[in-house]
Amino acid sequence: MPKTIKKIGVLTSGGDAPGMNAAIRSVVRTCAYHNIECIGIYRGYQGMIEGDFKEMGPRSVNNIVNKGGTILKSARSKEFMTAEGRQKAHQHLINSNVDALVVIGGDGTFTGAEIFNNEFDYPVMGIPGTIDNDIFGTSHTLGYDTALNTVVEVIDKIRDTASSHNRLFFVEVMGRDAGHIALNAGIGAGAEEILIPEDNLGLERLLESLQKSKASGKSSSIVVVSEGDKIGKNVFELKDYVEENLPEYDVRVSVLGHMQRGGSPSCFDRVLASRLGVKAVESLLEGKSNFMVGLLSDKVALTPLEQAIKGKSEIDKELLRVSDIMST
Ligand code: F6P
Repeated sequence: MPKTIKKIGVLTSGGDAPGMNAAIRSVVRTCAYHNIECIGIYRGYQGMIEGDFKEMGPRSVNNIVNKGGTILKSARSKEFMTAEGRQKAHQHLINSNVDALVVIGGDGTFTGAEIFNNEFDYPVMGIPGTIDNDIFGTSHTLGYDTALNTVVEVIDKIRDTASSHNRLFFVEVMGRDAGHIALNAGIGAGAEEILIPEDNLGLERLLESLQKSKASGKSSSIVVVSEGDKIGKNVFELKDYVEENLPEYDVRVSVLGHMQRGGSPSCFDRVLASRLGVKAVESLLEGKSNFMVGLLSDKVALTPLEQAIKGKSEIDKELLRVSDIMST
């Protein structure tokens, strides 16, 4: 018979993402709605190891639904990767009578939660929060939609200067292992080419494509490059290569970087965060554990954490074809 849950801990871990605060708010208020206590754990698993906890009630999450970042702070804890670190963390939870955990983060966060669950038979529930959208078991991770809107807005601005100077811009976007941001923001911003880790275009085909675009009468171009793309060693090498081989092009590089992780969450991310937070808490109260709550076919659904960690979130190859047709 599983222990009745009276107090839930919530933490954010790994790279922050817009919508994490809205998810914290949802977890805290869902706990209050069901008359159970909630505790905020600062700095992810590191704060759990150090017992950096704070009681949270519905009023402690006022005015954060619209805020980027995470009020609980985030960290990537090396100590939590050790059995000793996890033991300390478990002891702090026991001492503070915390019965279950909601962890908000990406696959590293879920891996930690799964190990913790296996070691201590401790109830855990994951909420996917990363701008990269690279988690299996959800069509959208928290922060992804906001990041797409940020990237599109910035590329629109780059386009203004690119077209004024008849230039080619390589715009590097985030996505260590996945091309979701590049692919979708690239189509949304009307990129000429999109380079992603899942599809190796090759340098020759990139040159061909740029030549074709020049010949078709285009005077400026945007190429969106995912940071995990395998064609060049980095986006600056791509620039050098193109300038050497196509001297008619005046090339510039813009690396968007961490600005993609900041900013006020979009309405989509706020609603998603609210839905996932409710489901995470209510699933724990129903006795479920070791799952991730995600969005599948616009319904909130549970996926075992193990599958969420091991499964691959595929890109939609049809989008590559759409992108090709749009750059005609
Ligand atoms: O949040 C995921 C991510 O945005 C990756 O795309 C990127 O490589 C990474 O974070 C960088 O994170 P940090 O600078 O925090 O290590």
